[in-house]
Amino acid sequence: MKINSKNKRFVKASEVEMTELVLPNDTNQLGNLLGGRLMEWIDIAAAIAAQRHSNRVCVTAALDNLVFHHPIHLGEVVTLRASVNRVFSTSMEVGVKVIAENQLTSDRRVTNTAYLTFVAVDDHGKSVKVSPIHPQTVDEKKRYKEALVRRDTRLVQNNHKGNRRTSV
Ligand SMILES: CC(C)(COP(=O)(O)OP(=O)(O)OC[C@H]1O[C@@H](n2cnc3c(N)ncnc32)[C@H](O)[C@@H]1OP(=O)(O)O)[C@@H](O)C(=O)NCCC(=O)NCCS
Repeated sequence: MKINSKNKRFVKASEVEMTELVLPNDTNQLGNLLGGRLMEWIDIAAAIAAQRHSNRVCVTAALDNLVFHHPIHLGEVVTLRASVNRVFSTSMEVGVKVIAENQLTSDRRVTNTAYLTFVAVDDHGKSVKVSPIHPQTVDEKKRYKEALVRRDTRLVQNNHKGNRRTSV
């Protein structure tokens, strides 16, 4: 893909909203959504956002600390909102917010947030450059700024060989 500064890509253009219904096969013995199933949904929603932005196949390189604040129950509706917070060079940070909804009471609560790093790759699995993303709203600009700080921490924690800190 040609990287063209005139052809600006905005956060809204690649946002993803994915909705799932928690069924018996998704739950543990307590009737709560399995952590692994939620992680799968988070990964898929985030991958779609990364690929929609980059027009490339993207692989998951890292998932930051994932905290399960509240259980999600059988029969609840789970909405996952994913958006690209920042592009570095070949990698991107995608943020995912998980909202659980009880349709009988209209109760809605944010149960999880997660940050994932995706790398755009070519047909041989080699990393390739991604077009920058242009934050527009106050929230998007905040997430863009904070993503750089998280990247520094992440590369140190993951002991990535490049450790290309604050390079962009
Ligand atoms: C992700 C992967 C392509 C990176 O390969 P690599 O040889 O480390 O590539 P590079 O050194 O060129 O790094 C590419 C980018 O990934 C980032 N990266 C690599 N490992 C990372 C990690 N553990 N955490 C965060 N970022 C990482 C680098 O910072 C770099 O970002 P930048 O170009 O934006 O600066 C490779 O490790 C891989 O294929 N991993 C397996 C992916 C996978 O199977 N995922 C699950 C299924 S989708």
